[in-house]
Amino acid sequence: MNKILVTGAVGQIGSELTLALRERYGRENVIAAGHRTPPSDALLQSGPCITLDVTQRAQLDAAIVKYGVDTIYHMAAVLSAVGEQKPHVCWDVNINGLYNVLEAAREFKLARVICPSSIAVFGPETPRVNTPQETVLRPTTMYGVTKVTGELLCNYYVWRFGVDVRGLRYPGVISSETLPGGGTTDYAVEIFYEAIRHKKYTCFLREDTVLPMIYMPDVTRGTIGLAEADASRLRHHADFNMAGFSFAPRDLAAEIRKHIPEFTISYAPDFRQAIADSWPMSIDDSAAREEWGWYPEYDLATMTADMLAKLQRRYEEGKL
Ligand code: SER
Repeated sequence: MNKILVTGAVGQIGSELTLALRERYGRENVIAAGHRTPPSDALLQSGPCITLDVTQRAQLDAAIVKYGVDTIYHMAAVLSAVGEQKPHVCWDVNINGLYNVLEAAREFKLARVICPSSIAVFGPETPRVNTPQETVLRPTTMYGVTKVTGELLCNYYVWRFGVDVRGLRYPGVISSETLPGGGTTDYAVEIFYEAIRHKKYTCFLREDTVLPMIYMPDVTRGTIGLAEADASRLRHHADFNMAGFSFAPRDLAAEIRKHIPEFTISYAPDFRQAIADSWPMSIDDSAAREEWGWYPEYDLATMTADMLAKLQRRYEEGKL
C-alpha cells in the first residue's frame, strides 16, 4: 500500500500533484505537507494536511512515523529567482532539506523517493539546442548548483544505499491552479492572468528568449509515470531530461492573441534575463522516452487554449 508524503504540497507543482495522487491512491493515503503558505480548500478538503519544515529532520521523522509513510514526493524547494536573492536559504532548503529526506528514506527503508530536478542544472557552457541527457552541468545560479548537487546526492543514495530515488529535470512549468513562486519561467504563467484581467502584460524577459516549457497535466502524468516505472528498465535515476515544447515570449503572445486579439505585450528585462540566457532552448528527452515511456500530450496551442479556458471560467466566477 502506498502511503505518500508530499513536501511542498502547497506549491505550484505540489498542489496539483497532491490532488492527482489522492485521486489515484486514495485521499487518506496522501499527506500534504506545506510550510508557511496555508493549504488551499481543495487540499484541506481532500485529505490530510500538515505543516512541515523539511530542514528540521525531527519533523520529517515524526510525519513518517505518524502516517506510516513509505513514499515521499519531495517537492519543497526554493526556485531560481528567489535563490539568487537568498542563496543561503536556497542552499538550506534545497540541500539540507533533501539530505534529511534521503537520510530518512535510508533509515526508515522507504520504498521510494521522488525528487525533482530542473533545466537549471545546465549552464552557459551546455549545448542549448536539444540539450543532451549527458552533458556539461555547470550552472551559474545557486538554484542550479543545488539541483546538480541534489541529483548527485540522489544518485549516490541509489548506488550506495539502494534507496529507490527518481527524478526529472522539469522545464518551466505552466499551470492554472497555483501561481509559481520565484522562478525565471514564471512569466509564462503570469502572462495568462494578465491577459484575462487587463489584456496586456509586461514581460521580464526579452521577446526572443526561447525556453523549454511544459504544461501541468503532463507534469503530473509524467511524474507519476516515472514513480510507477519498472525499476529494472531504469538506467538513469534522479536526472531524467523531460521536454514539453519550447517558445519565446513573443510566440506565446501571438498564440494568446489568437484568442484575445486586443492583447498587447511589452518587455522590460530584469536580472532574470541572465538566468534565462544560461539555460537551454530545447531538451532531448529520449532517455525518459526509452526507459519509461515518457511523452508529452500538450503543445503551445493546446496548452494556451486550455489555460485561457480555465482562467476565463474562474474570472467569470469572480475567483481570479
Ligand atoms: N521554473 C524554474 C525556475 O524558473 C526552473 O526549474 O526557477
